[in-house]
Amino acid sequence: MSQDGEKRKVAVRAAGLVQDGMAVGIGTGSTSRMFIEELGARVKREGLRIRCVASSNASHELGASLGLEVVTLNELPELDIYIDGADEVGPGLALIKGGGGALLREKIVASAATRFVVIVDSSKVVPQLGKFPLPVEVIKMAKPLVEGKLTKLGYNPVQRKHVGGSDYLTDENNFILDCHCDTIPDPVKTAAEIRAIVGVVEHGLFLHMGSLALVATPEGVRELN
Ligand code: 5RP
Repeated sequence: MSQDGEKRKVAVRAAGLVQDGMAVGIGTGSTSRMFIEELGARVKREGLRIRCVASSNASHELGASLGLEVVTLNELPELDIYIDGADEVGPGLALIKGGGGALLREKIVASAATRFVVIVDSSKVVPQLGKFPLPVEVIKMAKPLVEGKLTKLGYNPVQRKHVGGSDYLTDENNFILDCHCDTIPDPVKTAAEIRAIVGVVEHGLFLHMGSLALVATPEGVRELN
């Protein structure tokens, strides 16, 4: 089965977890996009009354365009469930997220939810985190400082740019430094080291946050927890 086929399969399963009356966090990225489409289809078909909070402007707009009631955390600060993709899923449901640049809002929305369900295709499950570059969101002014400190720590930061070479900016108007670690043997230590740098807004290590991962495989959807 293609990677997109796997994503669609897990998106359908995740949309099935949403029940009438729920407050739902909707994630960002291509897998989340499919989940939002499936959720929109369920709302149309079954008349589910749900309210959603999105982890990016793009997902907010997509959800609204599909007929979902998308509000802000101000209006809905407590969520029953947050459903989102990931770039890597390691042991203990340790995650790298932020490939789509939404790590800050994703971590905020995840932390507002009782349950965080991670939806991935089989390529995302790894024995150790770190092959996927770890995104670090940084205040613009602090970029040279943070870059230097990350380099000293051996994390090989590279500023994210658009294809044409212009600076990539997050929804919160910050830069992203992608850290080419190759391996992250101790994610707790790495998270603490990065968090301690002044000017870092957030990093893409999501530790002890996921409640369940739904992993699409050619044979079906596997649950990890
Ligand atoms: C966005 C994310 C995404 O969830 C992550 O990048 C996975 O994306 P995709 O489903 O497209 O593989 O963290 O910031």
